[in-house]
Amino acid sequence: MTGPPTPPSILSGSVPRHVAIIMDGNGRWAADRGLPRYEGHRAGMKAVRQAVEGAVEAGVSILTLFAFSTENWQRPEEEVMALMTLLKLYAEKEREDLCQRGVAVRVLGNLDRMDAETLNAVQAIETATREGDRLLLNLMISYSGREELLRVMRKVAERVSRGELSPEAIDEAEVERHLYTQGLPDPDLLVRTSGEFRISNFLLWQLAYTEIHISPVLWPNFTRDDLFEAIRDYQRRERRFGRVSSAPV
Ligand code: IPE
Ligand code: IPE
Ligand code: MG
Repeated sequence: MTGPPTPPSILSGSVPRHVAIIMDGNGRWAADRGLPRYEGHRAGMKAVRQAVEGAVEAGVSILTLFAFSTENWQRPEEEVMALMTLLKLYAEKEREDLCQRGVAVRVLGNLDRMDAETLNAVQAIETATREGDRLLLNLMISYSGREELLRVMRKVAERVSRGELSPEAIDEAEVERHLYTQGLPDPDLLVRTSGEFRISNFLLWQLAYTEIHISPVLWPNFTRDDLFEAIRDYQRRERRFGRVSSAPV
């Protein structure tokens, strides 16, 4: 169960508390090998394992993985079905191992469109891993940032129309209360693989001041060392949050 030791260079700097990853490049990985896209997604599961193990080793508290976007429902039915089947397999196969590693899994997104079998499997992994206290693993499925914000707007509007809240009292805390990530700190670091410089409708509210690391690696090739590289890159950044530099000039 124990892998190679975490590079001391990471442990000496500040480790991001919350890391989010846009796992991209499965299709291109498969195309490079003349394989169907589905094989790329299958190979991507190995990289999920690497990212989870790396996050635990590095001392990250929250790992949020973008696994399937609202827009991804528009892919060919065959690919959507393959992705749902893989999610079900992941939830069934990894349950025990994740429990042992102290990982608590949560599946966040609009799950209305998910088939009953996959939904059962993800609910079972959430229940089984509930006690995990080393890493919170958020799997964002059927998720989009704009849809999340619309959902927030509806909930806030309902409170206003019930007379529980005045429009002037709507503040950031009220919005955050209704996000899927409610109660969690914003990501410190966002990693996107496959060299794409896009947010693709991920965590639009939460990424306001997140540091971004673009990795050229296609997701199925992503290893814990690539995660450590992203963390080292993060450690070289100066986070100013709109203020002036605290470092001497
Ligand atoms: C990421 O890989 C996985 C999902 C979006 C579900 P892609 O399937 O987007 O792979 P590319 O971008 O086509 O290479
Ligand atoms: C973003 O990747 C969504 C996930 C990783 C789940 P996409 O491949 O769907 O995004 P675009 O189309 O390149 O923006
Ligand atoms: Mg893609």
